[in-house]
Amino acid sequence: MTRSEKNQQVRSDISPWRLSIAPMLDWTDRHCRYFHRLLTRHALLYTEMVTTGAILHGDKPRHLDFNAEEHPVALQLGGSEPADLAACAKLAEQWGYDEVNLNCGCPSERVQRGAFGACLMAEPALVADGVKAMKDAASLTVTVKHRIGIDKIESYDFVRDFVGTIADAGCEVFIVHARNAWLQGLSPKENRDIPPLRHELVHRLKREFPHLTIAINGGIKTDDEIAEQLQYVDGVMVGRQAYHEPWQMTQWDQRFFGEGAAPVVSREEVEERWLGYLDRQVAQGRPWSQAMRHALGLWNGLPGARRWRQVWSDHKLKALAPREVARLATQARLQAVESASQHPAFPASVTN
Ligand SMILES: Cc1cc2nc3c(=O)[nH]c(=O)nc-3n(C[C@H](O)[C@H](O)[C@H](O)COP(=O)(O)O)c2cc1C
Repeated sequence: MTRSEKNQQVRSDISPWRLSIAPMLDWTDRHCRYFHRLLTRHALLYTEMVTTGAILHGDKPRHLDFNAEEHPVALQLGGSEPADLAACAKLAEQWGYDEVNLNCGCPSERVQRGAFGACLMAEPALVADGVKAMKDAASLTVTVKHRIGIDKIESYDFVRDFVGTIADAGCEVFIVHARNAWLQGLSPKENRDIPPLRHELVHRLKREFPHLTIAINGGIKTDDEIAEQLQYVDGVMVGRQAYHEPWQMTQWDQRFFGEGAAPVVSREEVEERWLGYLDRQVAQGRPWSQAMRHALGLWNGLPGARRWRQVWSDHKLKALAPREVARLATQARLQAVESASQHPAFPASVTN
């Protein structure tokens, strides 16, 4: 059995969308996804949003290539023109992705000028045409990620009608970021925390569309919060928390995907496998720092984590090989552990 087949082998009664890591521009690139896959075998990984224009008119391998180990992995598209979406879905299938997802949730002005992202929620018929075109062009699963509303439209009916229209076009999986997109007045970053989340609207979608797969996203952090949400919906998508506290993901296969044994990996083991990846990047002429920035949270929560991160950051523009930097970073981390054990009264912030 290949590694990718093993990654995908999940109990058949468990939804592939049960737990996923959100698409995050500049963050969930292929290096980041490889790192995350060292921590969880089963969580579904999403690429950053890639625009149809970039794929169709740009360097296709640069935008579409991924590591075989990343499966299951979904390509997220930004676009609105059905013919372009169809062409990209076809390419996604050829490239071996497990799913193609359409972004109807990004509020950035640049995205709005291209008439895609969250402003598509005002045009459900166009999204329905896009979904249908993608489904006709490729046999991949087509999913949609969207918000619960745009601007000041706060009624449940708006998101219900959006989902209903897209579902009629054949989409069976919806990932819902449970806050409105504001198309003006907030930066995309601000619009990830404002306005308040309304998880209950997403729960209601699941109740009213029981035959659809509904996954919830937005502000979900702890494993207990994930478990709580799974009482109401089919899946949870986690974004910033997974990126910043990656070790949390090592609990997921056992707790949420029915794997029997406790997590077998240690942080040292993950670091060793990650160094193997960095070595391969360097051998291919790529600077290791591009990949390493996504793994700086590996030791978070333990004494010495801050020193470890610092050593890696200090060396990002220097010429040392990854294993040399790793040796220095481990030394610094262990020194901090030792001084923490000698001065247990020190606050954790001094040593971690
Ligand atoms: C740095 C960053 C980049 C993001 N880029 C995308 C993107 O490309 N496509 C998308 O659908 N959402 C994007 N998002 C939104 C996330 O997918 C997610 O919906 C949001 O962060 C809320 O989930 P969270 O509270 O678990 O982080 C991005 C979020 C962040 C923090």
